[in-house]
Amino acid sequence: MNDSYLEFANSTLGGRITGLLGLPQPTPLERYQAGQPVIKGPVLVGAGGAPELLDPLADMFARIGAQTLAHRSLPQWTSVANAAGLLTGRWGGEDVESGGGVRLKGLLFDATGLADVGQSEAVYKFFHDAARSLLPCGRIVIIGRPPQECDDPRQATVMRALEGLTRSLGKEVKRGANANLVYLTRGAEPQLESTLRFLLSPRSAYVSGQVVRIGKAADGDAAVIDWDAPLAGRKVLVTGAARGIGAAIAEVMARDGAQLVLLDVPQAAQDLEAVAARLGGSALALDIAAADTPQDLLGAALADGGWDVVVHNAGITRDKTIARMRPDQWQSVVNINLAAQERINDAMVQGGGLRAGGRIVCVSSISGIAGNMGQTNYAFSKAGVIGMVQSHAPALALRGTTINAVAPGFIETQMTAAVPFAIREAGRRMNSMGQGGQPQDVAEAIAWLASPASGGINGNVVRVCGQSLIGA
Ligand SMILES: NC(=O)c1ccc[n+]([C@@H]2O[C@H](COP(=O)([O-])OP(=O)(O)OC[C@H]3O[C@@H](n4cnc5c(N)ncnc54)[C@H](O)[C@@H]3O)[C@@H](O)[C@H]2O)c1
Repeated sequence: MNDSYLEFANSTLGGRITGLLGLPQPTPLERYQAGQPVIKGPVLVGAGGAPELLDPLADMFARIGAQTLAHRSLPQWTSVANAAGLLTGRWGGEDVESGGGVRLKGLLFDATGLADVGQSEAVYKFFHDAARSLLPCGRIVIIGRPPQECDDPRQATVMRALEGLTRSLGKEVKRGANANLVYLTRGAEPQLESTLRFLLSPRSAYVSGQVVRIGKAADGDAAVIDWDAPLAGRKVLVTGAARGIGAAIAEVMARDGAQLVLLDVPQAAQDLEAVAARLGGSALALDIAAADTPQDLLGAALADGGWDVVVHNAGITRDKTIARMRPDQWQSVVNINLAAQERINDAMVQGGGLRAGGRIVCVSSISGIAGNMGQTNYAFSKAGVIGMVQSHAPALALRGTTINAVAPGFIETQMTAAVPFAIREAGRRMNSMGQGGQPQDVAEAIAWLASPASGGINGNVVRVCGQSLIGA
């Protein structure tokens, strides 16, 4: 669905009128297209204390092909980056010679070396100097260590403090920029690259204020992959693929090289077949909540030599306040949105339908985090998806499989087009981007979690909500 206010506010006349009236002026978000560079502009690198990631970061930036600059507080970056063959220079607020006039597309702060809050001035200086120089749709990435893995409580404290900083930056930077925090387990550095590529690129257009936790990989060393086709050779099941977010997931996965098995209810078979034909995949007209479906899917996967990725996207709403809700409205939502996913996972994992290095990616919702009027059934099911992800992650890791969820906020689809106007407008504007997300935004996050190079991400729930105020 079109956001006509966004279009109006970005027209010449609309820009003037909204400016005069002090109305929101959302920036059209840049979105990834095949063949684009990861990031179109220089990344300023800073750090505090005794940073631990400079060498691996230099290697990653060299592979990513990003130009970097060293913040004045991090002169070490100049030599590390030069050794890695990166185009580099120095940059700093007071150091006008080197920093003046240079606009930045990314800000990366390595906070792993911070020992306690006494060293937090480095964080302040870096963002104080650079915040105004961030280009529209710029990217901020902060990397720290997981607080619970810090031996020293003082270090755990400063690491935890980074969450508040990141979320506030996400709200301040505006103009389509985002800010996200990565907690990286010591020794999991090889697992960082897929996340860095996602967060620095336009693929993360509608992901902001999030904390991504990366550990050692469930399936051994980070896979060596073709970053232009990270899902090449991977067989991917997407449920609910006939339209909306599911069709976008199929599109993005096909772009990234996946072989698709697309599923939707028999009533949607025509649309499903059209999507499958367009993307060179196969179509399965099945109801995920039917009793036989888990075994049918296992049979299809085994006959196909096993699948690598299962994306549980199919979902429904049957909104009513609980006092007015009929039993079938409760039960159908819980069955389709949650119980079916559990039964399919059990069949696929226990029956060997999911190959080694498998990925399960589920679609939750911010309703499952914040709750929502008229959605007790839906929020129950979507919070249950989060519970399922968190409770199954450790056991699945032992099989080399990961399970994660995305929690979309307001995404422009037929589901949200049916929402009454006033609630729809509130949902669209009450986030740091001032607009709804596109199905592609959810799909990009799912493709990142499904990547063979994302084996270090397990049990995470990542919101794709433009940093919605709801449930923040
Ligand atoms: N649109 C949003 O703003 C938003 C926000 C948060 C979460 N979500 C979630 O994202 C997912 C996709 O949402 P959407 O907006 O694209 O919805 P949609 O209604 O446009 O598409 C859902 C698809 O799932 C299919 N489906 C429903 N029941 C099924 C069943 N029993 N078996 C097989 N397929 C079934 C439908 O036929 C449809 O093609 C859902 O899980 C939804 O809860 C959406």
